[in-house]
Amino acid sequence: MLLHVHILGVVLYNVYAAAGEDVTLKPSPPDTKPVRLFTEEDLARYNGQEDDQPIYMAVKGAVFDVTSGKEFYGKGASYNALAGRDSTRAVAKMSLEPADLTHDTTGLTEEELKSLDDIFNDVYKKKYPIVGYTSQRILNKDGSPNRDFKPEDQPHFNIRDEF
Ligand code: HEM
Repeated sequence: MLLHVHILGVVLYNVYAAAGEDVTLKPSPPDTKPVRLFTEEDLARYNGQEDDQPIYMAVKGAVFDVTSGKEFYGKGASYNALAGRDSTRAVAKMSLEPADLTHDTTGLTEEELKSLDDIFNDVYKKKYPIVGYTSQRILNKDGSPNRDFKPEDQPHFNIRDEF
């Protein structure tokens, strides 16, 4: 029966196709999953304190899975403070001061911004998969979409199956 329906479909398609332009074939759904958005609370759950959880941190609003860098970001490791949050400012300034553990780039020097971009591109994007974005980067404070948002051109963009 299934075979017959299938064949009927093929026949009808051919008939319509032969008849002219009016055929609109639905494109197959793209083989992608939705991008995960992380609130600050979501991200904080992946701060390296739980051994069985992945470790995430954000730089410039892109959330990286840094679990493979456990020796840097895991519990008790030197850069653990950067995990579980957007640490853009800390990375730009190479600082672990609590006040710098924020996404806020206000007042950074040209040199710090350049250093941020270099580390973003040459360390984080090269080494770690992006698993989502901070909601703050995509939505404005009032919840409206941030029109300046541009997804990173990420060759190993890899949304994990859990999403
Ligand atoms: C005396 C101070 C420091 C020394 C000697 C040091 C040393 C290092 C070394 C040797 C690496 C490379 C490790 C590897 O690839 O195997 C590294 C990576 C890194 N360091 Fe430092 N560091 C210092 C301070 C800091 C501070 C204050 C920050 C603050 C943000 C920082 C952030 C990073 C980051 C983000 C990486 C890349 C980690 C990764 O690959 O995921 N470092 N550091």
